[in-house]
Amino acid sequence: MRRGFDLVAPHYRWMEILTAGGKLHRCRTQYLKEVDSSSRVLVFGEGNGRFLCDFLRTNSVATVSCVDSSSGMIDHARRRMRHFGLPEDRVSFIHENALNWKPRLSDYDLIVTQFFLDCFPANELRSVVGEIALSSTTDAKWLVADFREPVSGWRRARARFMLRVMYWFFRNATGLAAWELTNPDLLLCSAGFLLKTRRISEWGLLHSDLWVKQ
Ligand SMILES: C[S@@+](CC[C@H](N)C(=O)[O-])C[C@H]1O[C@@H](n2cnc3c(N)ncnc32)[C@H](O)[C@@H]1O
Repeated sequence: MRRGFDLVAPHYRWMEILTAGGKLHRCRTQYLKEVDSSSRVLVFGEGNGRFLCDFLRTNSVATVSCVDSSSGMIDHARRRMRHFGLPEDRVSFIHENALNWKPRLSDYDLIVTQFFLDCFPANELRSVVGEIALSSTTDAKWLVADFREPVSGWRRARARFMLRVMYWFFRNATGLAAWELTNPDLLLCSAGFLLKTRRISEWGLLHSDLWVKQ
């Protein structure tokens, strides 16, 4: 039985600031302008609502569904929205495991997975990406922000060390099934998406992508 992110939820914000400053949030918000007219948005593993709040400020039309298996994270996201006076009627929170949840319609023109796909081991990631892709419209965009491993050199060694520490922590704190990073690029391509733009930062440790459906 996986414990999930409830225990970590109250500490997630300060831990992120302490370990990464604003670097992860720059990845999350990199392409907000490109998605300011998306109308049906599906966010997986939104966490404490930081992307969601910035998104709602720049996009005044979209309705958003957020699927997250942690009720603690959902509470934090709701509180953050209230704190900033953002319209709660535009967002539905769905407390579900992404491995089990299926949308009723395939009408999402924007998919968002940020620091979420890294939660899955390779065998689960394949089905998660496939199912998520099925929920999207033919012209959908997909925002992905996550960690990555550079291909060689000291940057790779540094990233591998940091990832090892991160996975050790999250496996112990949340019962995460993954113990290493699986690159989702080929899975996104197989699911019909094409990488439009990628920004790599933090010596190759982070990437922020905009994918578009073919
Ligand atoms: C590492 S946190 C990332 C949170 C946020 N997106 C961010 O950018 O920091 C992973 C999030 O995904 C959620 N999550 C992990 N596994 C999940 C699953 N199988 N189904 C749904 N949500 C999941 C966690 O509860 C948590 O909110």
